[in-house]
Amino acid sequence: MDLLLGIDVGTSGTKTALFGTDGRAVASHTEEYPMYQPNNGWAEQDASDWWDAVVAGVGSVLAKSGAKASQIRGVGLSGQMHGLVMLDRDGRLLRRSIIWCDQRTSAEIEQINRLVGEKRIIEITANPAMTGFTAAKILWVQNNEPEIYDKCAHILLPKDYIRYKLTGEFATEVSDAAGMQLMDIPGRDWSGEVLSKLSIDRALLGSMHESQDLTGTVHARAAEETGLCAGTPVAGGAGDNPAAAVGAGVVSEGVAFTTIGSSAVIYAVSDKVTIDLMGRVHTLCASAPGKWTVMSCTQGAGLSLQWLRNTCCAPEVEQARAQSADPYYLMDKMAESVPIGAGKLLYLPYLMGERSPHPDPFCRGVFFGLSAIHGRAEMIRAVLEGVAYSQRECVDVFREMGVKINDMLACGGGARSAIWRQMLADLYGCPVSLTEADEGPALGVALLAGVCAGVYGSVGQACEAAVRKGGALQPDKGRTSAYEPYYGLYKRLYRDLKEDFELLARMP
Ligand code: XUL
Repeated sequence: MDLLLGIDVGTSGTKTALFGTDGRAVASHTEEYPMYQPNNGWAEQDASDWWDAVVAGVGSVLAKSGAKASQIRGVGLSGQMHGLVMLDRDGRLLRRSIIWCDQRTSAEIEQINRLVGEKRIIEITANPAMTGFTAAKILWVQNNEPEIYDKCAHILLPKDYIRYKLTGEFATEVSDAAGMQLMDIPGRDWSGEVLSKLSIDRALLGSMHESQDLTGTVHARAAEETGLCAGTPVAGGAGDNPAAAVGAGVVSEGVAFTTIGSSAVIYAVSDKVTIDLMGRVHTLCASAPGKWTVMSCTQGAGLSLQWLRNTCCAPEVEQARAQSADPYYLMDKMAESVPIGAGKLLYLPYLMGERSPHPDPFCRGVFFGLSAIHGRAEMIRAVLEGVAYSQRECVDVFREMGVKINDMLACGGGARSAIWRQMLADLYGCPVSLTEADEGPALGVALLAGVCAGVYGSVGQACEAAVRKGGALQPDKGRTSAYEPYYGLYKRLYRDLKEDFELLARMP
C-alpha cells in the first residue's frame, strides 16, 4: 500500500503521521519540547529539539505501523509560522529560534515603517508591519545581536529547517514565506524592494516554491538517522494554518475554518488579494496555486488553557494521571458545571500580546471581575469563553470585509472539546462542523506530498479523495443572546485598558 508522511512542527510538540492515500491515519506520534520565555513577551525554541522530535516521530510511526519506509511516496512538511531560524555557513544553528508569538519587536515595526513606508509595506506584503512576522525578528537580531547577524548565512522558517536537515536544500514555499513579510504577496515571490530597504541579502533566503512543488529528496545521512529511504521526495508543504486548510478541505472560496491549537486561527480562502488596512487580520498566500487567504490569529488560545492547567490545575492533572485520562477533559467537565458568563468572570487572552483583531505587543492577559466566590471551574470557563469571544471579534472583522462565513469547520486540539466548539457555534451564529481527521496540518501536507508525487492530480482532487467532514454543532438562539452582553463587555475591556497595557509594559 502506498503511504504519505506528514510532519507538523508545532509549538507544544511535533506531530508525525503516516497516511494511506485515502487520508486515513495509519500511525501517528507526537513528541513534546519546551518553549523558553527569557523575558516577558519573548518566546523561543531550540530548533534542534524540532529535529530530534522528527527523528523520534518517524521512527515511532514506522515501528507502530509495521510499514516499510519504501512504501512512503512523499514527505510533506508543516510547521508553526513566522519563526526565525538562523544558520552559519556550515549549517550550524546560531541562536535559539525566535518564534511566532514573540513580541519583542515593537521598535522594529517603527523601523520597517520608516524604511519601507507605512503604505508601501501594505501594498507589497499585503499586511501592515507586524511584530509577530519574521522580518521584524530579523531586524531585531541585526540591531541587538550584530555579531550573530554577521555570521548568518541562511534564514529559514521552522519547517524549512527540517527540510534542510532532511534534504540539504535551503528552500521554502509561498504559504509559510508569506508570513515573513518579505514577499510580494500578489506576485508570490520575494520582494527585491523590501529586502533591499531592510538590508537583508536575498542570498540568505531559500528558493521559493508553490506548496505542492518538489523541493528535494531525503539524503543518505538523513535516511540513516530517520529510517526513511534515501531519495524519498519532499514537497514544499505549508505553514501550519494553510496546511490545516488543506487537511480540512478548505481550498476554495466560501468555506472557512477555525483552528484552536496554541493559537486560534480563522482562515478563509480567496481568489484575490483582500487586505484589511488596519492589520486586524492577515492576508497571505494559500497553499493552492492562484489562491490567497484572509486569516486571523489569536495568540494565546490553547496556550491560555495550557497556562491555566500548568499554574492552577494541579488537582485535575493529578486526577487525570490516576485515571489515565486527559486533564483537559476533566477541565471541560468543570467548565460545563458553570453557566454562561462564568459567574460574572471575564478573561482577555492576551498572555503573549495580541495580533487579531488588536495588533498590540503590549497588552497582556486579564481576569476581570475576580471574586472570592470564584474557583478553578469559573476560571476555566472564563478562559474558554474569552478565547471564543476573541474568535467572534475576528469573525465580525471578516464579515465587515465582505468575507462570507455561513459554514465553519473546526480543527486543532481545542476543537475536540465539545463545549468550546459549541461556544463557537453560539457566538458565530452558524453551524460548526468537526473535521473527521485529528491530524489537520500533518494530513494537509501529506496530501500536498501526494500531489507532488503524482498520487493526486491537484490539491482539490486530493481533498476530495481524502478529507471527510464530521458532525456539526448547531447554534442556539437562547445561548447566543445570553452571551451577547458578556461579549459586549469583553470588547469594551480592551478599549478601556489599551493605554494602561502600554504603561505597564513600559514600567522599568
Ligand atoms: C499564525 C500563527 C500561529 C502559528 C502557530 O499567524 O502565528 O498560528 O502558526 O503555530
